[in-house]
Amino acid sequence: MGENLIDLRSDTVTRPTPGMREAMATAEVGDDVYGEDPTVAALEAEVAARFGHEAALFAPSGSMANQIALQLVVPPAEELLCDADAHVVTYEIGAAAAYGGISSRTWPAVGAEIDPDVVAGMIRPDGYFAVPTRAIAVEQTHNRGGGGVIPLATLRELRRVADEHGLALHCDGARIWHAHVADRVPLAEYGALFDTMSVCLSKGLGAPVGSLVLGSAEKIERARWIRKRMGGGMRQVGILAAAGRYALDHHVERLAEDHAKAARLAEAVAPYGVLASPVRTNIVPLDLTKHPLDAKALAAAARAEGVLISVLGPRTARLVTHLDVSDAAVDRAAAALTHLLRA
Ligand SMILES: Cc1ncc(COP(=O)(O)O)c(C=O)c1O
Repeated sequence: MGENLIDLRSDTVTRPTPGMREAMATAEVGDDVYGEDPTVAALEAEVAARFGHEAALFAPSGSMANQIALQLVVPPAEELLCDADAHVVTYEIGAAAAYGGISSRTWPAVGAEIDPDVVAGMIRPDGYFAVPTRAIAVEQTHNRGGGGVIPLATLRELRRVADEHGLALHCDGARIWHAHVADRVPLAEYGALFDTMSVCLSKGLGAPVGSLVLGSAEKIERARWIRKRMGGGMRQVGILAAAGRYALDHHVERLAEDHAKAARLAEAVAPYGVLASPVRTNIVPLDLTKHPLDAKALAAAARAEGVLISVLGPRTARLVTHLDVSDAAVDRAAAALTHLLRA
């Protein structure tokens, strides 16, 4: 990517900082398929402890971490409930069905808003005539939901619903760090609500690779086996785990800066009637339904001005702030976008 381009497509585009590269270069490593990589073991223990879970497993991507977790809680031919915009049913290329034989059913997505009564009303009991529901999945923060944060009270209510029906509750917590920083909810308080979680080190935290699956010791033992079957067993991967440990130590609290930058971008574009929903974290969702420019046209024009944005649909687009977007870049991007939206 050219030095002058401001890349607001995603928070996955960050490059390792010098400190992170140093941590990677000096990491102690071993063969992790033999369970002999001390840096991976330390990362897994640290992340499990942060969320108050018994164990964690390092995985190469958020998608694999989600899919391992779903296979832990939903047997083949049984059912997962989630919202229609959830990453697990939108961007994971049918993996739940392909690898887990999992049947998925969705409730209509309204950003990060969830009505637990709607979810409860969808649950199908065991019986020979219907697909039995086994798990509910939520996404914190919600990617297609504009970086929205599910309130703790809603999550507690969903936990109650899951318990009442004997279901598992999974959290796709790719950006749960952002929710923690935005709502000041301790990570362990989130952790206590879920049977399984996936969390990412490469979205906003700045690591080049890496996610973790969290759960009970028994579940993670099984998860290790599923990961190997999916081709996700890795060897001297402490080099990557070291980047993740560095990210946890240095890049969590600073997410507040990304949120403030997103808020500034939102403030700049709001007068043009294109803000899809209030900005809570590092994602600025754009709704261009009432604007003369559609999403592709805006993205092309922005690129010509040196700003990259994501097109999510014909009239929806997205700006994302992250570690590699400076304050000056935010000012330049805001000026370019307001110029284009005004025209
Ligand atoms: C909410 C959410 N979950 C899961 C993922 C999957 O992560 P990966 O791209 O590492 O597979 C993403 C990726 O952007 C995401 O936004």
